[in-house]
Amino acid sequence: MDYEGFPILDADEVAGLIPDGAMVAFSGFTPAGAAKAVPRALARRAREYHAAGLPYKLRVLTGASTGSSLDEALAQAQAISWRAPYQSSRTLRDQINRGDVDFVDMHLSDVPQFTLFGFYGPIDFAVIEASEITADGRVYLTNSIGASPAFLHSAENVIIELNRGQSRRVAEMSDIVVPKTPPYRPAIDLDHPLQRIGKPYARVDPEKVIGIVETNEPDEATDFSQANQINKAIAQHVAEFFASEIACGRIPREFLPIQSGVGNVANAVLEAIGEHPDLPDFTMYTEVLQSSAFELMRQGRLRGASTCALVLSPQQMKQLVDEIDYFSSRLVLRPQDISNNPAAVRQLGIISMNTALEIDIFAHVNSTHVCGKRIMNGIGGSGDFTRNAYKSIFMCPSVAKGGSISTIVPMCTHIDHSEHSVQVVVTEQGLADLRGLAPKQRALTIIERCAHPDYRDYLYRYLHDSGASHVQHDLTRCFKLHQNFLRYGSMLHDEIPESEIDRIFSASF
Ligand code: COA
Repeated sequence: MDYEGFPILDADEVAGLIPDGAMVAFSGFTPAGAAKAVPRALARRAREYHAAGLPYKLRVLTGASTGSSLDEALAQAQAISWRAPYQSSRTLRDQINRGDVDFVDMHLSDVPQFTLFGFYGPIDFAVIEASEITADGRVYLTNSIGASPAFLHSAENVIIELNRGQSRRVAEMSDIVVPKTPPYRPAIDLDHPLQRIGKPYARVDPEKVIGIVETNEPDEATDFSQANQINKAIAQHVAEFFASEIACGRIPREFLPIQSGVGNVANAVLEAIGEHPDLPDFTMYTEVLQSSAFELMRQGRLRGASTCALVLSPQQMKQLVDEIDYFSSRLVLRPQDISNNPAAVRQLGIISMNTALEIDIFAHVNSTHVCGKRIMNGIGGSGDFTRNAYKSIFMCPSVAKGGSISTIVPMCTHIDHSEHSVQVVVTEQGLADLRGLAPKQRALTIIERCAHPDYRDYLYRYLHDSGASHVQHDLTRCFKLHQNFLRYGSMLHDEIPESEIDRIFSASF
């Protein structure tokens, strides 16, 4: 049996071709468009090998996070030795934090370039979900583009998961371009988020396609919960800020394209923008289009969006396909080096909005590592957008874990975004506009507007007691809140003797 001249294989046959130690690049940017059947088969193969006392682990590369059939299934089978560039699987996260898996946390826009120029070494196999492949090597991708065009180009062997459950028409939204190599790379020709500059398909050398695996299953997207009061308060501050910036001319009347991170806070913010009477209809230039943005597009509030992935509920996916003529003129799906392109972000004047784990009083941001040690997910696209944004915003609740953690701290234990790139900080307590403020004023503004009242006194005291300098820090105490948390389970347990702090510090860091 073949399809367009390519052999049809089952997933277990394909897994049998991929040896221990191979570098495998899978499609997927979030669960959208992620390979499903082959990674599950690889997990089965790993279990069989391990049961027989044989080694079997893969080096796994993707566009970003994936569905449960990929990271979670492979991690549960102990089948991953190395992973890049982002993950959000609980099992894999634990393996990374135990030191069992080598994880490379990367800006997502860099992945195609790293692939095309061999920075990762050879890509032995690419496993790419598609809705169609033609005999001459045109590959129509499904609900994300990610780094798949680069994987198809660079991998030595290619397997296509031909997913009959995904509409072929979604590819009408794809706009795929593989940038020329430097130093002959022209500027990206984008005057508007919806401008198309590429083709609706990716290319593969047909000689490299070793097989097609037929599948029929939806993406493994998880639903977001309803916005809680804290997320709603954060969202309201952001929407009010935009309205006042437009009113005083610091954002143009027609607004600017928005990038929004993933998750519940981001969903709440988009809802609040949609509901705000003084904010005009808007566009997005973002990496993930999720449910709240989809609803705003149906209502006409969101005029159009450029994205790398569609992360929608099964019902929304059906609506998208049923009303494809409406959506295909309003949505553009791009590869991640274009959707997250720092030059395009600067060029288009993007407003970036991302979520932090913790933010220090000078506005350095930690998006990735709890207490500087344990990775949560990864930096994702937040750095791609933040550094070049017209306005860069970071948001988070002022406390975590029932109040035992302040997300506003004296010094971040890991820095993903520096004070130089962060313009606005928002918690449910309020919004700190830091533009034009020197470090001491930044600290006072963040503490006053964003810190939880339970932690304000501590933070004011820390700033005051640190003494005068350009950035006021006391290196003997800057991580005391974290040390308290690690030792006592609460940051405000501040009765620790100095000798004890020294002991904790050397044990923990
Ligand atoms: N210390 C320890 N734990 C913290 C914490 C802190 N300072 N802040 C939050 N947490 C915990 C929460 O308690 C929660 O834990 P749980 O899952 O056990 O309940 C978890 O971290 C997630 O926090 P939550 O408030 O639910 O936020 P979220 O789901 O919006 O995720 C990030 C926040 C930072 C983890 C997430 O946005 C992320 O991975 N960002 C980096 C990538 C990125 O920005 N991508 C978008 C670019 S387009």
